Amino acid sequence: MKSVTIFWQSQSGNTFACVKAAAEELERAGTSVFLHHILAKEAPKFDTEVYIFAFPVYNFKPATAMRDFINNLPPEAKGKKALLVVNCSGAWSGTPYVMKKILKKKGIELCGGVLARGSESYILLRKYIKVLNNTGMPDQKELRKVRDFVSKAGKQELKPKFYMFNPLSLFYWLGVISPDNAPGKAFKNRLYDKEKCTLCGYCYSLCPSSAITRDADTLKCDENKCVGCCGCFNICPVNAWTTPVYKAENFYKGAYAKDLIKTLSKKENGK
Ligand SMILES: Cc1cc2nc3c(=O)[nH]c(=O)nc-3n(C[C@H](O)[C@H](O)[C@H](O)COP(=O)(O)O)c2cc1C
Ligand code: SF4
Ligand code: SF4
Repeated sequence: MKSVTIFWQSQSGNTFACVKAAAEELERAGTSVFLHHILAKEAPKFDTEVYIFAFPVYNFKPATAMRDFINNLPPEAKGKKALLVVNCSGAWSGTPYVMKKILKKKGIELCGGVLARGSESYILLRKYIKVLNNTGMPDQKELRKVRDFVSKAGKQELKPKFYMFNPLSLFYWLGVISPDNAPGKAFKNRLYDKEKCTLCGYCYSLCPSSAITRDADTLKCDENKCVGCCGCFNICPVNAWTTPVYKAENFYKGAYAKDLIKTLSKKENGK
């Protein structure tokens, strides 16, 4: 594999850790790697040999922003081969099958994917299911899975992979019937602490639905647009966003959030 563009989305840092592991491994093998955060304004590098789509599973399906990004890819993406690097806390449900269908519409062939498990980032589940209230995933074992996958893929000729539709998968159907903004409904009546906020820009750079906007020296959130990715709560260094129900102790301050915001601060901070 000579060159790869990794199109990535990560709201709390877990997928970003996998992206870094994949990029390191490929570069070590001599592949030129171009990273593109799908919410960034810069134009991606489209003329690479292989595309990797790296994203979390939300709401039993691939994250909405990634699906939208792929649906809006330009015609030059046609004919490319693609791999998936997927992150989720439980099961990836019908993710490969759904992605195969979306990519096919753009003329892109899905040739394989890897799933790495990450700590739960949905703060509703973290609050009410104590066993999910952990940090530290993806750990080295999960990151090794990602490294091994891209390393193997890089040495082979990529061929389209068959992903079977499983009509008995409950999670697949939950993904089909659940509206994209369903998780966001948990975060009504948000509170924004202007005194704490440093206007660092991380939350509104990262918000996949443009729900958070800056107006002079204050921020606003359009709750109707929020898809509930929890990025703003989880990555804000000073916990300026809370709700009457969800407070800082429920947030996921995972191992990789700091790494993620360093990347944002380089490129997108202060829009
Ligand atoms: C709104 C929301 C919905 C989620 N839905 C699922 C799901 O259906 N299945 C699953 O296994 N994990 C689910 N998760 C967990 C995330 O996929 C997991 O924490 C992932 O590692 C987050 O990656 P990120 O830090 O790169 O955003 C969900 C998380 C959020 C915030
Ligand atoms: S991440 Fe927190 S401190 Fe930074 S702009 Fe958003 S609310 Fe303010
Ligand atoms: S406002 Fe909603 S969609 Fe935007 S970052 Fe926060 S939780 Fe995610």
